[in-house]
Amino acid sequence: MIHRLYIETVGCQMNMLDSEMVVADLRKHGYELTNDVKQADTILYNTCSVRAHAEDKVYSALGRLKLLKRRHPEKIIGVMGCMAQKDQTTIFDRAPYVDLIVGPGQLQEIPGLIEKIRAGGEHEMAVGLGRRDGSQDDIRKSHVTFDPLRDPTMRPTPYQAYLRIQIGCDKFCTYCVVPNTRGPEQGRPPAMIVDEARLLAEQGCLEITLLGQTVNSYSYTADGKTTDLAALLEMLHEVEGIKRIKFVTNYPKDMGRNLLETINNLDKVSPYLHVPLQHGSNEVLQRMKRGYTVEDYRDMMHRIWDIVPDAAISSDFIVGFCGETDAEFQTCIDSIREYRFKNSFIFKYSEREGTKAQDIMIDDVPYDVKQARNNELLEVQNEISETENIKFIGKPVAVLVEGRSKKSEQFEEAGKPIQMVGRTHCDRIVVFEGNDRQAGKILPVTIFETTPFTMFGTVVTEHVGPEVFSL
Ligand code: SAH
Ligand code: SF4
Ligand code: F3S
Repeated sequence: MIHRLYIETVGCQMNMLDSEMVVADLRKHGYELTNDVKQADTILYNTCSVRAHAEDKVYSALGRLKLLKRRHPEKIIGVMGCMAQKDQTTIFDRAPYVDLIVGPGQLQEIPGLIEKIRAGGEHEMAVGLGRRDGSQDDIRKSHVTFDPLRDPTMRPTPYQAYLRIQIGCDKFCTYCVVPNTRGPEQGRPPAMIVDEARLLAEQGCLEITLLGQTVNSYSYTADGKTTDLAALLEMLHEVEGIKRIKFVTNYPKDMGRNLLETINNLDKVSPYLHVPLQHGSNEVLQRMKRGYTVEDYRDMMHRIWDIVPDAAISSDFIVGFCGETDAEFQTCIDSIREYRFKNSFIFKYSEREGTKAQDIMIDDVPYDVKQARNNELLEVQNEISETENIKFIGKPVAVLVEGRSKKSEQFEEAGKPIQMVGRTHCDRIVVFEGNDRQAGKILPVTIFETTPFTMFGTVVTEHVGPEVFSL
């Protein structure tokens, strides 16, 4: 029997990848995807708990399903991902018509659990152990990485793929739920990662993005031999067909010299480094328990500029963290000015259950202050992104073409040419007039206009050697 699956995903790239994996798995069990909840017999939400807003969205989406479930009790509604692990049975309490709760470490159990429910079972729940609920070994084993072979049609584009190299996190920043929802940090075996990269390349994938919460802390030890990210990058560089290797997210303390030298030496490795500073003040960094000082971060930035001069660096910031004063906030502005990040993601602090900050600190910055600080910081960053992008005007860049741009339809309706979109090696977004045959190619494009977020260009027809490309 053919089943129809509707799946909605919020959260980070790790969640996008998890959804791909679950869909690939369910397809093997006779499921087809649908975009229409009403057509679906199975409805899954892949959830995020990093900020309250992400959870609220899912709870209200679940609220909208109440009536549908009353009319069609045979439909199966499941909640998977970080909120499933964090809230567990509370989800059944808040939305009793949910049938299934599955944590990010139990995704492989989904087809079996759905079958059990269809066979007349009641609620089913599979989650990992909490960080204090057993021996270290048992806890680790209860968070399993799930990376079955994928269907190329599920990827963001056929030419790009996420590739998991690490699960979990052991950093325990005081504001963050991830170490609780994703469990202990565990690296995947390098041989398995390389095999997956080979397979992706055979399927026509040109760009892989390695995923981990602190991807540059990657470490895998077997038979007395430890592989770190630098060694893994060298192995992946050998995979024929792969043209670009990116990796997110980096942890400042683990951005060592050897890794940076490797990044600089390997052409396929993007000199794009997302390495969140989070805050510009030592006092706040300490309250956040980030494990480094602003001086450490500055040293790291000089190390990067020194060893990888072409690097594009981006950051995350949290504004309005517990006790953040005006003066402390100003240090974030100073940092953005000092480092001139390619871009920064800025978040308003959101108190999370089960974190150290919730336990021992007071979420005392009023919402409107958080909002104002968010806007102010974003404005400074946008101004910098704008000035930095202008420097690309007149220069050729190498663009991996992803497909039509979001606004292409609008252009086509107005009788204008198709707008294609792609990215440079450093992850800068480039839009240009083109055609669908260009998708999946790496093309030289000369930039003629820029905004803080996007560059606009024209495909260059005469030969341009790779040595002249800006990154
Ligand atoms: N592992 C990555 C990012 C994880 S979450 C890292 O450490 O860099 C993505 C971003 O969400 C974080 O970088 C942080 O800026 C933000 N974030 C995490 N917890 C948050 C919270 N409680 N409130 C607001 N933003 C938060
Ligand atoms: Fe969260 Fe910190 Fe781990 Fe990133 S490093 S996932 S912010 S605990
Ligand atoms: Fe959200 Fe979990 Fe990712 S909390 S940011 S989906 S690791």
